Amino acid sequence: MTQTLFTIPTIESIKRLGLEKSDSNFAILLDMFMQEELSIDIKREIVSSIGRQKNNDKIYEFLKQESFKKHYMEVIYQMFRTCLYKSKEDTRFADLRDKILRHYNNEVMQKMLEYYLFRQQKKTILKHTRQIIKPSLLMGDNRTTLNKIQEQQIQLIFTSPPYYNARLYSDYKSYQDYLDSMLETLKQCYRILEDGRFILINVSPVITKRVGREFESIRYPIHFDFHKILCESGFYFIDEIIWIKPEYSVPNRIAGYLQTKKPLSYKPNCITESIMIYRKNSPFLLDKNIKDYDKKLKNDDEIDSTNCWYIAPKFDKNHPAVFPEELCQKVLKYYSFEGDVVCDPFAGSGTFGKVANTMGRIPLLCEQNLDYVEKLRQKGFDEI
Ligand SMILES: C[S@@+](CC[C@H](N)C(=O)[O-])C[C@H]1O[C@@H](n2cnc3c(N)ncnc32)[C@H](O)[C@@H]1O
Repeated sequence: MTQTLFTIPTIESIKRLGLEKSDSNFAILLDMFMQEELSIDIKREIVSSIGRQKNNDKIYEFLKQESFKKHYMEVIYQMFRTCLYKSKEDTRFADLRDKILRHYNNEVMQKMLEYYLFRQQKKTILKHTRQIIKPSLLMGDNRTTLNKIQEQQIQLIFTSPPYYNARLYSDYKSYQDYLDSMLETLKQCYRILEDGRFILINVSPVITKRVGREFESIRYPIHFDFHKILCESGFYFIDEIIWIKPEYSVPNRIAGYLQTKKPLSYKPNCITESIMIYRKNSPFLLDKNIKDYDKKLKNDDEIDSTNCWYIAPKFDKNHPAVFPEELCQKVLKYYSFEGDVVCDPFAGSGTFGKVANTMGRIPLLCEQNLDYVEKLRQKGFDEI
């Protein structure tokens, strides 16, 4: 029977070697690193403990040799991290950091560098003087009216944009024209949103009716395209909540199939809508946003533990596409704190603003349709 020369080190034993800095520990860590068939976690921990040693010459030599060899990327990221943290005290590590960055040309490393530089500046989130202190309304096209709002004034944006030419109130020359217009609004949203905060967009595919029996109706997967324009505006993807409605409440698409049972004619009833959740790109973690609030601020015990929310839609005689209040309540509860300024740039009847108000948030609404604007004024939203 062959004997194994090394026992597999544990994370704890490697950490201990990292804490006790000595030439002998360095040598043991190097030997360990050269062992084959170690797990990624173990190898990464060894690199981390090597980085904690005192002898910069040896650390530099190790990183210079190993950073460009074939290792799992997690292990390389740890080497890069060591370079980042040592670059301040020793320019050799700064040079190596840049070389590694050029070699891998990798977005994770780019992000690591951004985080590191931000932490170096010891910058706190800039608190901007509050411009909105009561329920407010911007009347007109949000692409221009939002210019009245200074940057980083808003802590949450939730909206349901006009569904491309699906209803009376939207009118665009083409689908591309619609997306271009939405992109302009999203850029405004990015500017007014505080660093690191969330934007939630409620969309679902829309269908434009066929203009005659010989023509096909066109279905647009709006949410796929919104992903692109959200990223182009500077947001990044966090989650998707699926809003599930009772089947009786949605248009019946399955009837045709039920009559013929012909393959290819299958059109299921669509009972879901998407709530797309994105975060404003920021070089710090969410903890930093949370730390800004009083420690005592917490939600109640009731939770939605999955990304499927079962909520009946709401119908309103004055507006064709209103949010159910329950949907707004959940969004406000999970993505904002009491006292936050929250915005719906396509406010319609103002459901989000109304619920926000009752939940101790300060709503800012934008709406261009004068009938809805008038109703919002009556509900106590003051024009700015
Ligand atoms: C889907 S509805 C929002 C309904 C809303 N969630 C509610 O609960 O009533 C979209 C609204 O955006 C408005 N709108 C469309 N384009 C706009 C723009 N560029 N600026 C401001 N409002 C706009 C429309 O008039 C419409 O009322």
